[in-house]
Amino acid sequence: MQQAAAPTFHVGVIMDGNGRWAEARGLARLSGHARGARRVSDIVKACPSLGVTHLTLYAFSTENWRRPLAEVEGLMRIFHQYIQGKMAGLRRNDVRVRFLGMRDRLPDGLRDLMGRLEQETRHCGGLNLSIAIDYGGRDELTRAVRTLSQLVAEGALPPSAICETRLAQALDTRDLPDPDLIIRTSGEIRISNFLLWQAAYAEFDFPAVAWPDFTVQHFGSLIGAYHARRLSAETPLPPAVGARP
Ligand code: IPE
Ligand code: IPE
Ligand code: MG
Repeated sequence: MQQAAAPTFHVGVIMDGNGRWAEARGLARLSGHARGARRVSDIVKACPSLGVTHLTLYAFSTENWRRPLAEVEGLMRIFHQYIQGKMAGLRRNDVRVRFLGMRDRLPDGLRDLMGRLEQETRHCGGLNLSIAIDYGGRDELTRAVRTLSQLVAEGALPPSAICETRLAQALDTRDLPDPDLIIRTSGEIRISNFLLWQAAYAEFDFPAVAWPDFTVQHFGSLIGAYHARRLSAETPLPPAVGARP
């Protein structure tokens, strides 16, 4: 008898607001990024008890290269230190890590560490943590189309075999379920090129708290609100203007 697939719950987080958090305190933007990086561990550790099986964090977009060089270099250093410092702990906590996005524009040392972390956690069966670095949904789709076009050009794939499933398998997220909930901190109400294809049926939440101040309590209450919405069969509409009581 075939086993039913275990239920998954995938939350994506656009970790935004580090710069404004720092500026509001008279600090350099990079201290905001450093404080933001410190928030990640708590959130990761809370996932199992909150029922989150997949967590995808947006750390650096394809557009973020346009920031001042010092900020970009500082961010790359923070990613490097984070991975180096957390490698053993992530493994101990049974967290499987994957990276989404391009790799070739990243510093060599960082790219090597990312590969090592993926390799060292590949047998972990607890939380599935994906970190999107040099990631953009448009770039991911463009790369997927290029991959499929190459197969077509080689005669290995008839165009009629290209379907949604086939395209999804060519994306960086091929091993992940679609996100159920996407949270963007700091109150900005846009998706900024995150999981464009995968978010087709995701719900969105935009808490007005900057990422360095985002706590497990905030995370838990957004997840609670998500489940409450799912439980009510249909979201009731407010009474129509002029409707009879
Ligand atoms: C998010 O914080 C982190 C990255 C994009 C790397 P921001 O740096 O975008 O912070 P704000 O939006 O300027 O406050
Ligand atoms: C999106 O945040 C990318 C990350 C959080 C990594 P940004 O702050 O860079 O997004 P925009 O450019 O303001 O939309
Ligand atoms: Mg921002």
